[in-house]
Formats: sequence, structure tokens, C-alpha cells
Amino acid sequence: MIDSVVTQASSPLYVTQPYLPALEEFIPYLEEIWKGKTLTNGGPYHQRFEQALSEHLGVEHVALFSNGTLALITALQALRVTGEVITTPYSFVATAHALHWHSNKPVFVDIDPETLNLDPKKIEAAITPQTTAILPVHCYGNPCDVQAIQDIADNYNLRVIYDACHAFGVEDGVGSILRYGDLSCLSFHATKVFNTFEGGAIVCPDAKTKQRINHLKNFGFVDEVTVVAPGINGKMSEINAAFGLLQLGHLQHVARRRAEVDALYREQLRDVAGLRCLPQFATGRANHSYFPVLVGDEFALTRDELYWHLKAHNVHARRYFYPLITDFPMYRGLPSAQPANLPVAKDVSARVLCLPIYPDLLRTDQERVIDLILGAGQ
Ligand SMILES: Cc1ncc(COP(=O)(O)O)c(C=O)c1O
Repeated sequence: MIDSVVTQASSPLYVTQPYLPALEEFIPYLEEIWKGKTLTNGGPYHQRFEQALSEHLGVEHVALFSNGTLALITALQALRVTGEVITTPYSFVATAHALHWHSNKPVFVDIDPETLNLDPKKIEAAITPQTTAILPVHCYGNPCDVQAIQDIADNYNLRVIYDACHAFGVEDGVGSILRYGDLSCLSFHATKVFNTFEGGAIVCPDAKTKQRINHLKNFGFVDEVTVVAPGINGKMSEINAAFGLLQLGHLQHVARRRAEVDALYREQLRDVAGLRCLPQFATGRANHSYFPVLVGDEFALTRDELYWHLKAHNVHARRYFYPLITDFPMYRGLPSAQPANLPVAKDVSARVLCLPIYPDLLRTDQERVIDLILGAGQ
């Protein structure tokens, strides 16, 4: 009874809410597009956004995409990845789906219990003569052990493509985390730290690879009469590119607000028995894209009980990543998907809960979430 009264009185809080600048700010961009009548195919906003984005990220080359999934599939095609690819079960399902669509066999390797990223110590045991690449994920924007992964790749002559869909703006002490590996793929989906409604990109180290990617994302066309590869349609439209350009100007505010939300959760939840916040791993700059907590046995509720408790009070936290990718029917039959191969991922998947974090989250609303958790823990 009390629960239902509370539910009606308080507005719903979701795990994220897309950041949108004021609509008036976008109108001039739309007017420009209407005037020019170029809607896609590498138009002026596409060119400007691509340039501005690579400067913002501090990387040499960026190729824009219509979403992160097509960026991943195109990255695999650009490097002509064949056979088996080592990856993590602890991610959004698109990581493995990209391999599936490219006819690669995912080989799942367990995660590190601290970073929740692919555990480099377990990679070598999964390499076979068919292995050609590693597809790690910077999960929650926390950087992978990029050096250890590169050492393995160099030893075994493997390609490394990072699924960096959570890692926009993340830096180590020297620069962007996106400069590691052969390629890194980004998502600008509505739920991400940086959104263009839908969108994505591949970060690549050299102009030649970028040119191949540009051909691949436009059906393989080089000019009106020349098609050099069986490409796909992965192009970002002018509307999305214009919006991205506008969004870049708001990033400082977005980053500051996310950092404040993150800091308040850490401070308030620090001493709750049985609740563990992940440490921050970026030595340079974190992006605070998610706020996962791990619910331990000492907490008063199980993870699922806490999830439903919050839901009953109109707080819609998410169990990212539960189920694991390896629990889904198209993967669970693979030998590497067996739970005995993935004890850490299994355990974390049963304990994790991502709390609301986004720039417009009001302090009073965040305090509501915190109070519900503290109340449940007593
Ligand atoms: C880790 C990860 N990989 C891939 C994707 C796919 O990106 P998109 O939704 O832009 O296709 C997402 C997000 O949606 C993601 O979180």
C-alpha cells in the first residue's frame, strides 16, 4: 500500500536520460541543411563533425557511422578478420552479434574481477590456430589492460579491435584510450555519454585504413562507376552529424555533472556493508558513463531484491550485464560459453546493478535513490 502511494507520488527515474541541448540551438543547423539540401553521403556537417571529433578526442582519424554495431562489423571487414575471435561475455549483446554477422566465431574468455574487462591472463589459453583477432570491451568506460592485450596480440600475430562503445572521452595519463589496438569502435546511441540520437564511429591510426573504411561504409563505392568491396550502408546522416557538432560544445557541462553524480554515490554508499562501487581505473580522465554497484552477500537484499525494491519506488536501475551474452540461445551452445569457463563473469552478472547517472539527474532525485538503498541495507 505504502509502496504504491510512493510510486504515484514520485516521477520515474531511469538508469540514463539522453542529454539534449535546448531545441532553439539546433534550429539553425536544421535551417542550414534545408537550405543546402544535402542530407547524407559525406555532406558538409559530416565533414565538419568528423574533423571536430578527431580534434576533440585527440586521435588522428575518425570515420563516422550510423551506429556502433555497423562500426564494429565494418571494422572486422576492414581488417579482413576471419575464423575465431576472442571476446568477453560481459558486454552488450552487440559485441558478439557483430562477430556473428561477420561470420566469425566468438570465443569467450572470462573477465578480471576488478576491472570487469577481458582478463588478459586467460586469453592465451583460448588461442587456437583459427584465432585471428581479439575484441575486448572497455566496459563501463574503464580501460582494458591495453598493454597486456597488445603483447599477446604481437606474440600471436592477432588483430585487436576495441569495442569502445562505452569509452567516449576516456583518457589514460598520456591521451585517448581510443589510440590503442588496430581500431576502436564508438557508439553515439541515445543512452551513451555522447549521443547523436543514433550514431557511431571507428577510430583508426592511418589514412589508408580510414579510406578503406570510408569505401566499406558506402557500399564499397570509390567513385560513380567503381565498387572495390562488398560494402554496407553505414553512413551517418547530416542531421546526426549536425547534432553531434552541437553536442560537442556541451561536453564540458555533461562531464562535470556526471562526475558530480558519481562522486555523491561514492561518498554516500562507501560504508554500506555488502555494497561495492567499482574503483575508477582511468589514470587520466574517466567518463562516468555508468554507475555499477556489486551487491555482496552481506547486503540485506540480494541484487534482484534490490532491483525490485527500487522499481517499486519508480527507480529503474538496470542489471547491466545480466544475462551474460553467453546465456543467449545463439551463443550458449559454444564450448567457451559454458558457465565453468566463466566463473567471474557469472558471479558479477548475478551481483551487478547500474544506478541512474546522467547530467540532468537532480540532486534530490539522486538522494531518493541513495535513501532507498540505505534504507534497504538496514
Ligand atoms: C558495448 C557495446 N557495444 C556495442 C553497442 C552497439 O552500439 P549501437 O547501439 O550504437 O549500435 C553498444 C550500445 O548500444 C554497447 O554498449
